[in-house]
Amino acid sequence: MASTFSGFTNGGMVQSNLRIRTCEKEELDFSQVLRLALDTFTRNGLISPLMTSDHVRQILEVMWKGSDHMIIAEESNRLSGFLSIKYAGDGHAHFASWMPYLRNGTNAFQLAPQLINAGIRIAKEKGSRMAWTRFDLLPGRERGYSDYSSWYRSCGFAEPFQTPGFIRPLQRFSSFDFHRLMPSAYTSGLDIKPLNDIDFQQVFDIYCKAFSSCRDNEFHLRTGPENRETLMNREGREYQIPEASLALTDGETLVGFANLYFLKDRPNLANLCPIAIDPDYQRRGLGTLLLSKSMEVLSAKGYQALTLFVDAENASAIRFYGRLGFKEAFRLYIHTLELS
Ligand SMILES: CC(C)(COP(=O)(O)OP(=O)(O)OC[C@H]1O[C@@H](n2cnc3c(N)ncnc32)[C@H](O)[C@@H]1OP(=O)(O)O)[C@@H](O)C(=O)NCCC(=O)NCCS
Repeated sequence: MASTFSGFTNGGMVQSNLRIRTCEKEELDFSQVLRLALDTFTRNGLISPLMTSDHVRQILEVMWKGSDHMIIAEESNRLSGFLSIKYAGDGHAHFASWMPYLRNGTNAFQLAPQLINAGIRIAKEKGSRMAWTRFDLLPGRERGYSDYSSWYRSCGFAEPFQTPGFIRPLQRFSSFDFHRLMPSAYTSGLDIKPLNDIDFQQVFDIYCKAFSSCRDNEFHLRTGPENRETLMNREGREYQIPEASLALTDGETLVGFANLYFLKDRPNLANLCPIAIDPDYQRRGLGTLLLSKSMEVLSAKGYQALTLFVDAENASAIRFYGRLGFKEAFRLYIHTLELS
């Protein structure tokens, strides 16, 4: 059921004819929403070869499909802005539009925090424990980020968690790279199998063991419900690239795995999340072996690049990726707000 919010004072005077309310998707026309988003991207100088208007449409379609709530602002019954929220089912409310989309001519610094505050209120009503939102800071998007960040911080969200994003082109990849990098990898008795042939509990045990000493663990569990779902449930399987998601076994024992999935809004990019090698088997070239095999498969399937995020403090993983030819290309900023 739709509810109306009033009396928000954050950011200055509220126009008397402005109404902020939650609404069901069905009430809105997607082309109207898309127009508003394109307006916002264009105004903030965010349309570029890396983010074409076609990408914006794809991003919006994914957001639209996944969102549980739309918070909208209307002025004289005309859509002036919106924010979408997705509930992860584990107490996390994801503010899925990375910033409120606003009609040209609206006072963004006034309206954006009002939409965010309305989102916080509805997330609390729904019993969420945490709200979070993320922004991929690609070169040239600094201006968009500084507005976004100040709006979320003005609504009480914490200083962001920073996660470097790495990328490696796949066109030039061949197994030659692996032999050059790791001529003496320990491989006797080891087998590479499709990850989906392995019992999920074994996979999850290795995940917990490998990540127990990294902050990534807390990071994924607290702020990356999408990532966790990718690993843990059927929703994730929908995005998985099964041919490239591989497990390494030593006899019957699972030694490590790499899970690859595609990004609905960037069909040529694959994403790695996560890779984990049993600590008892690390530093023997097995991570390199596994990821190389996955990259070979991705390359053969026509993927142009592989991306991944790693916590800024996970020095060994950063070294591991650097050796495999990954370069830092962008940063992910995650703002969170405890609701309970
Ligand atoms: C990152 C990880 C997958 C690497 O697997 P691995 O089998 O140990 O890696 P490899 O043996 O192929 O290592 C290749 C290179 O990576 C670097 N590296 C790997 N582990 C390292 C460590 N603990 N300290 C420093 N460098 C390390 C080294 O450069 C190493 O080459 P070298 O041994 O010749 O110096 C593994 O350490 C792991 O599961 N870590 C915990 C989970 C994690 O952090 N995943 C990635 C987060 S996105």
